[in-house]
Parts: sequence; C-alpha cells; structure tokens
Amino acid sequence: MKKNKPSIGWIGAGRMGYEMAGRLAKGGADVLVWNRTKEKAKPLEKYGAKVADQLAELAARDIVFCMVSTWKDVKEVVTKLLAGKARPKMLIECSSISLEGSAELRTLLEKHKIQYLAAPVSGNAKVIKAGKLSFVCSGPKAAFDFAKPYLNLIAANSSYVGEGELSRIVKICHNVFLGVVTQSLAEITVLAQKAGVPRHAFLAFINQSVMGSTFTRYKTPAFVNLDFKVTFTPHLLRKDMDLGLDAGRKFEVPMPLASATRDLIQAMIGQGWTEEDFATLLLQQAEASGIKLKSENKEVGDGLS
Ligand SMILES: NC(=O)c1ccc[n+]([C@@H]2O[C@H](COP(=O)([O-])OP(=O)(O)OC[C@H]3O[C@@H](n4cnc5c(N)ncnc54)[C@H](OP(=O)(O)O)[C@@H]3O)[C@@H](O)[C@H]2O)c1
Repeated sequence: MKKNKPSIGWIGAGRMGYEMAGRLAKGGADVLVWNRTKEKAKPLEKYGAKVADQLAELAARDIVFCMVSTWKDVKEVVTKLLAGKARPKMLIECSSISLEGSAELRTLLEKHKIQYLAAPVSGNAKVIKAGKLSFVCSGPKAAFDFAKPYLNLIAANSSYVGEGELSRIVKICHNVFLGVVTQSLAEITVLAQKAGVPRHAFLAFINQSVMGSTFTRYKTPAFVNLDFKVTFTPHLLRKDMDLGLDAGRKFEVPMPLASATRDLIQAMIGQGWTEEDFATLLLQQAEASGIKLKSENKEVGDGLS
C-alpha cells in the first residue's frame, strides 16, 4: 500500500468481520478494529491491526467498514460512531440488511456528509481465507472507485450494480438461493442415501456434474461427515429468507420455494437446532425421512484449498 494511505476503522469482528479485517491488515492497510466483545478482535493484532477500546475512536478514520448482524445492530453501532464530533469520510456497510434499512442509513449519512457504499458479500469465513469472497456494491460510482483498492485486499471480486440500495436486493436474492439450494441438496442427498447410495459417492457425482457448484463442493464435507461447526447460523439465514419474502411482497413477486424453505428453517430453529451450522437442514430432512445419519468419516475436499 502506498504512503499517506487512508486510515481504516473496522466495526465487528465476528466470523466474517474478523477474517475480512484480517485480510486488510495483512495487506498492509492501517486498520483500527472495534468489536463489542473486545477479546474476539485482539488476535487481529498479530496481522498489524490495532484494537480500539471505544467505538467512538473509529470516527476519526477516513473509511469505516461495518460488519455486524441485522439492521437494528447496524443502526446501533453507527449511531454510537456518530455520537461525537469526528466523522469518517466514508462508510462501507457489509452486513446483510434490508433495502429499507440501507436507505435509512443513506439518509442519515448524507446528513453528516459521509459517503456511503452498500457492500454486502458472498462467501463464508473459509471462503474469505481462501481469497474467494465477492462484494456486491451500490451507491455513488465515485465511492466504489475510491473503495476498490481496499475491497481488493479483502475479496477476489467486487461487482458494482448501480446507485442506491441495489446491492441489497442482489444479496437478498443470493441468500434466498442459498437457503433453497441447501434444502434441495438436503432432500436429494437423503433420497439417494435412503435408496442405498452413500453420501460421499452421491455428492462426488453431483459436484462433477453440470449441477455442481462452488457451494455444493464446499458443503460436501459437512454433508458427508456431519461436521456442523457454524459457518452461518440458522438465525441469520432465517433473517435473510424473511428479507427475501418481504421484498417479494413489496415487489409482488410470488416466491413459493422461498416460502417453504423459510418454514423449514423455522422448524429447525423451533426444534432447538440453533447453535450449529444452517446445514443441519440435512439432519432435519433425514429425521423427516425416518433415517438417522452417521458420519461417513471420508476425506472429501471442499474445493477451496
Ligand atoms: N457467516 C456467513 O457465511 C455470512 C456470509 C455472508 C454474509 N453474512 C452476513 O454478515 C453479517 C455478519 O455475519 P457473521 O456470520 O460474521 O455473524 P457473527 O459471527 O454472529 O458476528 C456478528 C458480529 O456483529 C457484532 N454485533 C452484533 N450485534 C451487535 C450490536 N448490537 N452492537 C455491536 N456489535 C454487534 C458481534 O459482536 P460480538 O462479537 O460482541 O457478538 C459480531 O462481531 C450478517 O449480516 C450475516 O448475515 C454472513
């Protein structure tokens, strides 16, 4: 990175924020991180990041990234960020939030003369580590151009889709697809297994077929070996399915598959499957099919490393 580089603030060192801020710091950016639970951010110091005690310390940074959970959380942290006199030049908001929340944030930031780029992402923490994250961005094109060198340190791709909150609807559509595809993959994997095909053999074929994808490949170890360490929580996926259904209502688009999948995620949460990965949709599907799954203990690749 060149001298006189902009100073960066980073809000939120959860599963995603930690890895994203880590890539920025490793890439040589001057990063000051704040996380509500400070201990989670501390290990970022080994990559050269600084860790703030107070959120307000980030307000004097040139660019502030935000990666928390819901719109309510974004509103809370941005309100605290702007409580003092200092103002960043730009805010890049990466959480998966609604169009309405994002528009409210734009109005608030305009009042404070802060440029705003809406920049949600595709990929989980492992995808970030593998350097394969994608940003989808909207807002003023000049803001995107200014942010691009920093987005490039974090992700392999950054798409600019236009003004305003357009990136939010793209991300919502993406995650509705994630939910529906995961449920569909769970259904067909259980069907093949109940008919006698081991999961590793079934998924090896699917992954090499025209229907295989980066996603089916990286979910394969979880489906085969029942490793449900969280990459994305059922609660966060339900939030995104709800955002998709709300958008469907707003734009009068029927979404029958999304509706059914949303309820299956709800059923999973209702049964108490909340602390593991959302891919436990597979276990719920197996239960509904009258079979109990066991790990196949097979070495299977995730297509990322
Ligand atoms: N995981 C994925 O695969 C994935 C992929 C793409 C997009 N996303 C989206 O990215 C966002 C983050 O996801 P994640 O998986 O990283 O979630 P996570 O691991 O649960 O992390 C959430 C982060 O937000 C912070 N936070 C939440 N509410 C807050 C509040 N009211 N005030 C201050 N800090 C708050 C948490 O702080 P604490 O550490 O103190 O709890 C933590 O740093 C979500 O919008 C999610 O939908 C996730």
